[in-house]
Order: sequence, then C-alpha cells, then structure tokens
Amino acid sequence: MHQFIKISLLLSAFYCHSVYTEEWFETGNFYQIYPRSFMDSNGDGIGDLNGIKSKLEYLHDLGMDGVWLSPIYKSPNADFGYDISDFRDIHELFGSLDDFDKLVQECNRLGLKLILDFVPNHSSDEHDWFKRSESKESGYEDFYIWRDPKIDEISNIPVPPNNWMSTFRYSAWKWSEVRKQMYYHMFHYKQPDLNYRNPKVVQEMKDVLTYWLDRGVAGFRIDAVPSLFEDESLRDEPRSYRTDCDQFDHCSLQNIYTEDQKETYDMVQQWRKHLDEYSAVKNVSKKVIMVESYAKLDYNMLYYGNESAPGAHFPFNFELIKRANINSTAEDYKSIVEEWLTAMPKGNIANWVLGNHDNHRLASRLGEKRGDLLNFLLQTLPGAAITYQGEELVMSDVYLTWNETVDPQACNSNPTIYESRSRDPARTPFPWDNTKNAGFSTANKTWLPVGNNYKTVNVKAQQEAKDSHLKIFKKLTSIRKKEIFKKGDYLSALSNNKQVYSYKRQYQNEMAIVVLNFGISQEIVNLTELFKEIPSQLEVYVTSLDSGIISGSKIETSKVRIPGSHAIILVKSAAGMIKANILMIFVSSLVYFIFRN
Ligand code: NOJ
Repeated sequence: MHQFIKISLLLSAFYCHSVYTEEWFETGNFYQIYPRSFMDSNGDGIGDLNGIKSKLEYLHDLGMDGVWLSPIYKSPNADFGYDISDFRDIHELFGSLDDFDKLVQECNRLGLKLILDFVPNHSSDEHDWFKRSESKESGYEDFYIWRDPKIDEISNIPVPPNNWMSTFRYSAWKWSEVRKQMYYHMFHYKQPDLNYRNPKVVQEMKDVLTYWLDRGVAGFRIDAVPSLFEDESLRDEPRSYRTDCDQFDHCSLQNIYTEDQKETYDMVQQWRKHLDEYSAVKNVSKKVIMVESYAKLDYNMLYYGNESAPGAHFPFNFELIKRANINSTAEDYKSIVEEWLTAMPKGNIANWVLGNHDNHRLASRLGEKRGDLLNFLLQTLPGAAITYQGEELVMSDVYLTWNETVDPQACNSNPTIYESRSRDPARTPFPWDNTKNAGFSTANKTWLPVGNNYKTVNVKAQQEAKDSHLKIFKKLTSIRKKEIFKKGDYLSALSNNKQVYSYKRQYQNEMAIVVLNFGISQEIVNLTELFKEIPSQLEVYVTSLDSGIISGSKIETSKVRIPGSHAIILVKSAAGMIKANILMIFVSSLVYFIFRN
C-alpha cells in the first residue's frame, strides 16, 4: 500500500477511536423518516424506498448516523402502516424486498445505520394469523385476545367484556361474526392485539426480528411497548376525570390494566437478549433497541433493565414532548432535562426527542422562534438525539381541513374536535425545493397536501441561502461529533433571572458552553459567575439564525449578549474545531475510498 495511504489509515483509526464511544448509538444522531412523505420516486404521490435511497446522501451530509423508518411492511393502511398484514414483506406502495436490500446496501456504503420499526403489539386484522385465529384454526386459537361479550342485564344484548377504551376512541373490543366472540384492540379495530401470554406468539415475533436482522438492519424502534400486556382478569379501569378527554377517549380512564403491566419489561429484556445473541453468534456489530413509551418517568426507567438482564438501549425520552409547551421557561427545560439524567440508572444512555409523526411539529408546538434553539438543545445534550424529518428546516404544521384529514385517530372523532386528535399536520410531504409538490413527487395529487410555505421552507433554498436553519443544524451535528459532546461532562446553570439555561460540556482540556435564552428579550449573561475556570474570552462556534452574533467572533465571557429565543455555542477556538472537522471528513472519506476500491 502506498505510504501516504498507510499514514492516513493510522490517523483515522486513532481519530475514530478517540472520537467515538463504545457503540455508535450511545451518542447516535438518529433521523426518523416517515416513508409516505419523504420522497416519491414513481410519481404516485406517496413516498417510497427508492425515493429514500435517492436522498440518503442528504442524510449523510446532514451528519446523521442512524436512519429509522416508520413501517414499510405490507398493510391495508388503516393506520398508515402500523397495521401490518405481513411482517416479512414490503408494501408494494413502498417497493419490494429487492428495493429494501438495495437500500441497506446504500446505507452501508454511506456508513448510515438502518433501523426498522418493529410493531409487536398488534397485527392487521388482514394478517393470516388473525384469519386463522378468527376461525379457531388449531394452534392459532389464542394468538389474539378473545373474550365472550357480557350480556347486558337490562337490554339483554351482548356488550364488551369490560370498559377498556381504544386510543383511537370508543370501546377497545370488536365483535367477530366469524368467531362469535370479541377481540381486544388497543388502537384501530383493524389492529387486533397479539396475545403475548402465548409462547408461540413470542417466538413468531422473535423470528420476525431475526428475519430483518438477516437482511442487515442495525436495530429496531419498538412500537407501543407499554400496551403489550393487559390485566388477565380484565378488570374495569377507574375513571381519570381528565377534563381534556371525553367519555369515548382512552384517557377518560386511568389505564392501569391496559398499560405498563409488569411482564412488559421482561419481554423487552428477551428481545435484547435475542439481538445480543444474534450479534455474538453472527459476529456482527451490536444492534440497537429503542422503545416507544409515553409512560411515567419511573416506569420508563424500567425499560433499561439491569446488568444481569439488560433491556432497551433506551426508552424514547418523550419528557420534552409531554411537558414542554410554548410558555415553558429556561428553568422548566433545565428541570425536564435533568430529571431524566437523574432518574436514569447509572451507565445507561440518555436520549432526547422533540418531535415525531404522532405529535405536532416542534415549531408549532414549542414556538417557531425557538426552532433553532431547540435543535441546539437536542444536538448538544449527552446521549443520543432523535430528529423527525423536517425539523432540521424548522418546518411547521400544515393546517388540514376535516375533509382533507386521513389520520384514523382524527377520523374517528368529529369535525369539532378532530384538530386536537389529528397527526396529519406533522406528516405532510417533505419540501425538497420550490418546484411542483416541493420536489417530493411528480404526481398531480400527493397523499397529503404540501405545506403552503414550501417555496421558502425547503432544502434547496436553505442550502443556497447564506444562513439558514439547515446550515445551522449541520454545524450542530458536526460539533456533536467532537469528543466534548460525545464524552464530555455536563454541568449546567441558570442565569440569575432564570431566562437563560447554559451548560458546559467538558472533555479533558476541551470545552464548549451552550447558552440558550428562553426569554423573549435580550440578556447579558456573566458566564464566569456561573461556571468555574472558564477563559475570559471564548469564540462563537455557531449561533441561531438572525441572532446578530457573528460566528468566529470573540466574546467576553463576563458579558455574553444573547437576544431572546436565541442560542450560541462558545468554544476556545472555533477555527480549531472546524479544522478538526475538516480533517475528520477528509480522513473518513479517504478510508471509505480505500475500502470501496
Ligand atoms: C405508535 C405509533 O407511533 C403510532 O403512529 C401508531 O398509530 C400506534 N403506535 C399504533 O401502532
């Protein structure tokens, strides 16, 4: 091998070793793709796998490590893919298994890790297992939760066996004419719950995991985990008396018998064991497990498992989604962040989520002005970061009329309340440029309309602008790759008037200070009072859009001026950081080039 190449390889090995912690996902930068809305390659108005493949370079440039796809499997689409009729095949709208294999190859080429959505709680009622179970075929009788109805004493007609409600409203029980029994469905009636007290179901679903591992995926996001088990004796749930839920809503009850049952944590530990054993036997890299759970903090911590029986690598941290709102202060954000860090059992991976396909977009929920500031927070806290597609552009919700609404959760409600239930506003097509359908599709009609502001809020416009949310986001993902953010300590402080939340990330001799002004007016912060041993001057590495502060400029740490709703990262030498990043990009490109040839 040429001498120069040898030296570069050595350098890169050293660099990678010093930059990354043990497993990539410990500080992984994850991007969630909602496949229907990311990129349409065949002009049918719906995104697909080849569309995603054509945009992987974008995600690579964005600085992402992991790409999580919401479900792409065969499905009648009663819940847009979360109702799966074949766990081992791709929906024809998205492509084929061959397209999937090519997507994995392209991810591997770019060093991106592909994560699939594993939906174990339920299947579609059009799944072969359900049809067999409904007709009581031997071996399938107990694949789902079947019960006889009760007979109402007054009317003498059959009624559900208990008061459990579906999260999509109304009773969680549905009558089957075929079996003459009722089945339980936590979500849509076309999503019957699988019975995890049946060992055959447990084994089948482990085999599903193996199937996709064999096709090269790097791990799974696991859907609706708190709902896996239900109280065996079907006790009625007590009323919650919540004023934001009506009598037909799941949240009108305290969900103590349909969520967070103790067997759930063991199931997650079994999945972890299954994945770890797979990696060990096949001698491949560790696979990641991320659990979707909106449970209370102390219940969520149980998903981490323990040393002898590790569970998920992390349960998604939805605390910022659940608890922050447009009026949340610096103090609120600081305590939401630190409650997780304090509650998390030692040695585990923290993670931060600000948006997904089930919630309003962060700009619409938490304030458009705070868009960059919140991305600063997400990218600079210790642990993993999960970004929902479009948040890097600070996209907003798209308003949809009742007639345009397609989300079953909203369609099961009515024109008066649908907006509070609908998830469609955050699921509209991704804006790539200012051409027809924002460059997402050549179709005459896309499955959901493109947002009105796509002429200005799109990737191309933000790539070409001198400054933009996207450019700022890329600076954040690039500094995040530094040791300070991967391995550094986190030490935080609130300004005296509690408007500004700052933290120091420190690793050996390097440090960075993140300053977030959650107030509406300009603040002058004396960082030397808040943090010990910081230099009297620091350099601005990156600042939020239109802050009026110049990147690369030197700032007196005793009087840091920061406008309302803005954020900055200060470092000892911005040029040093940039040089190190350029070196890293050069070395990793070289390594890639050598190995590819
Ligand atoms: C959670 C998913 O994120 C959501 O979109 C889906 O409707 C439910 N689980 C049911 O699978």
